[in-house]
Amino acid sequence: MARTKTPAKAARTAAERPFAARLLAWAAHHGRHDLPWQKRRTPYRVWVSEIMLQQTQVSTVIPYYTCFLARFPDVKSLADAPQDDVLHLWTGLGYYARARNLQKAAQQIRDAHSGRFPRDLESVQALPGIGRSTAGAILALAIGERHPILDGNVKRVLARHGAIPGWPGDKRVEAKLWTLAEAFTPKKHVAEYTQAIMDLGATVCTRSAPRCAECPVAADCKARLSGKQARFPAPRPKKVLPVRRTCMLILISDGAVLLEKRPPTGIWGGLWGFPELAVDSDVDGWCRARFGAIPKRTEVRPVLRHTFSHFHLDIEPLELNLPATAAVQEGVASRWQPLGKAPKLGLAAPVKRLLDSLTP
Ligand code: ADE
Repeated sequence: MARTKTPAKAARTAAERPFAARLLAWAAHHGRHDLPWQKRRTPYRVWVSEIMLQQTQVSTVIPYYTCFLARFPDVKSLADAPQDDVLHLWTGLGYYARARNLQKAAQQIRDAHSGRFPRDLESVQALPGIGRSTAGAILALAIGERHPILDGNVKRVLARHGAIPGWPGDKRVEAKLWTLAEAFTPKKHVAEYTQAIMDLGATVCTRSAPRCAECPVAADCKARLSGKQARFPAPRPKKVLPVRRTCMLILISDGAVLLEKRPPTGIWGGLWGFPELAVDSDVDGWCRARFGAIPKRTEVRPVLRHTFSHFHLDIEPLELNLPATAAVQEGVASRWQPLGKAPKLGLAAPVKRLLDSLTP
């Protein structure tokens, strides 16, 4: 008699194979194997990729990663570089604290670890900008050490598979997810498993319309078995973001625009931008005090909204044309940038957009 399994039996058998074994078998054919940071894996190369991939998609990261690694191929070159060079190569990726912390951490590795990326979880986690999941991912992916990870993709996979209620940003929910992550991480093939669970989250167990028919761990996925994939993970509780306003002064004189370096901390710390004033300030008075002249022409540009995780920033750009004599004073934190020439400096996204819109 033919020994075909009933669907129920087939499902039961599938679910009996360990979670990691099913994921590893799936990844061998369907995982991603040719990402730039998967070649010549070193803790440094993996570290830079993991930081860039926080809150940013693979397709966006790849060109930035390639340029960054060409300019900063190792810890020392990153540690020794001018901060402006680091922020310049980060321009457009957003979340600039990531770049500042990356360089700070490189300097700590140079000074406290003789330039060698540390190999123990505690030392890795002590570096600026590296949390538990990123530290685990670096050591798992680069040297195959057994550490669980819990980034956004993994949280989604595990929250669905275990039908874990609540928002994963909540400490108690997160603790439950860490317990699952720890339990599922295998003793062998840790690097492949770590990449596999991230890939599953990114390509199959997607936020909307997950492809459960292609999922290797669907047989015992509690969310799927109850048809409630869309309910897990629960979304962040809604809060209304406050709105802040600022006036950006696009000061043009003699074919150049004034840029200033922002203080090292706070929003866009260390990036270059336009001088800012509180909205409805006395702009003519400010120009007279600073340049000894008032604008020849003023143009009010449309408001730009830039949204951060905790507030909206409404930017009111004012384009001001000053007499040629204004463009004389420069300092370490201010420069007149010729119009039409892209500066090799770190720029916040709306500043870059405004600069690109200026014609020489
Ligand atoms: N997201 C975070 N880390 C990743 C990795 N190593 N590959 C693909 N996506 C990721």
